[in-house]
Amino acid sequence: MKEIVPSPPPLVHNQYESVRQLFSKNVIPSYGRFDLVLSHGAGSYVFDVAGKRYLDLGGGIAVCCLGHAHPAITDALVEQSRKLIHVSNLYFTEPQGRLAAELVRRIGAGKCFFANSGAEANEGLFKLARKFGHDEGRFEILTATNSFHGRTMAGIAATGQDKVKKGFEPMTPGFRHVPFNDLAAARNAISPATVAILIEGVQGEGGVTPATAEYLLGLRALCDEKKLLLLMDEVQCGYFRSGKFLSFHRILEGTPPDSGLRTLGSDFLPDGVSMAKSLGGGFPIGAFWVRAPYADLLGPGTHATTFGGTPLACAVALKILEVIGRERLDENARKLGDWMKSELERLAASYPQVVRRARGFGFMLGLELVEREKIAAFAASDKTAAVQFVNRLHQAGVLTIPAGTQIVRLLPPLNLKPQEAGEGISKIEEVVRSLV
Ligand SMILES: Cc1ncc(COP(=O)(O)O)c(C=O)c1O
Repeated sequence: MKEIVPSPPPLVHNQYESVRQLFSKNVIPSYGRFDLVLSHGAGSYVFDVAGKRYLDLGGGIAVCCLGHAHPAITDALVEQSRKLIHVSNLYFTEPQGRLAAELVRRIGAGKCFFANSGAEANEGLFKLARKFGHDEGRFEILTATNSFHGRTMAGIAATGQDKVKKGFEPMTPGFRHVPFNDLAAARNAISPATVAILIEGVQGEGGVTPATAEYLLGLRALCDEKKLLLLMDEVQCGYFRSGKFLSFHRILEGTPPDSGLRTLGSDFLPDGVSMAKSLGGGFPIGAFWVRAPYADLLGPGTHATTFGGTPLACAVALKILEVIGRERLDENARKLGDWMKSELERLAASYPQVVRRARGFGFMLGLELVEREKIAAFAASDKTAAVQFVNRLHQAGVLTIPAGTQIVRLLPPLNLKPQEAGEGISKIEEVVRSLV
């Protein structure tokens, strides 16, 4: 493989210890990293510096939607970088306009803004809400307990988990948390200052918990009644992972017309949607979409970012959409993901001493373990059951992502093959069986 950065002297080249030392001396230790040093990937597999191969069912936390080193992404990067990488948002560029049109076509009448990450996309939604309520003195956004919305100052204030806030108080004002999937709690929490409600379609970091159809439809009706914006964070759960473009498309499909709720599933639209992660397949890009009536609220001079929507990022994102559409990877995520879920359910039924239940749908799945103290092999360590299970899977050659203390997430590439899904399940079963 061609070296992009000049190699260090051969003795230390690519050695696990030397990379670890570079990190311990030079990289701020804000992440709890696993003991793996990864060097390259191909398709659904990544390799560590010792050459060991791992099936990547974590997808870089729901990012690598076409797996690793996909030739279409490489070609888009190379071709576009030969033409134009960046010019700033002082000018118009075709890739940004085309990508916005593709997103609008898939979500609904409205407009998009491009950023660089999920947290930044959410920041845009917070500013949209503030602008919406500004002249009436309304500013407060309700978010859900156990939610996750990013690590910026407003992101941690919006996130419904104390662990991300600890040590960074005082929090940015204007956020309050309400229990997820509890419509009455949302209604009761609305104050004269409330301007918006923000939720994830499927809580990801919080442990793979989908919103119910009734909750989404009820929130829409509540927001209409109280003149609030309904905002959805689709950063992790969106982008075809559910089998549909956005998670609410899947949650609401087949909502019965006689469900007694005013807004039917097929007509449902939030007022704002944030996206990132799989949008760039690993190349950083975030975006938010705003529904038509509010799409011009953020007028000239109100919001900006130097790197947002570069021709390079947008060309990659456009190519990804083309590949997903051509290869029907949405259907793959749905069919194969739902098969994997049924296999995880089988594990829960066969090994209740270790697995409590399977969670999620499509390619956003969670394996919920029983409490650490109930798994003899885990009881001695103070690491969570989820982290210990993920470590055992590393030994077995599979990457997954822990969530909370007991949930192991599977967020594989959308182009995962059936045989790879089968390999993943049998390795997970091996690990489960070793814990019985
Ligand atoms: C639902 C959700 N929102 C926002 C974010 C933040 O995205 P980023 O890490 O790109 O800032 C994440 C990241 O995991 C997420 O899962």
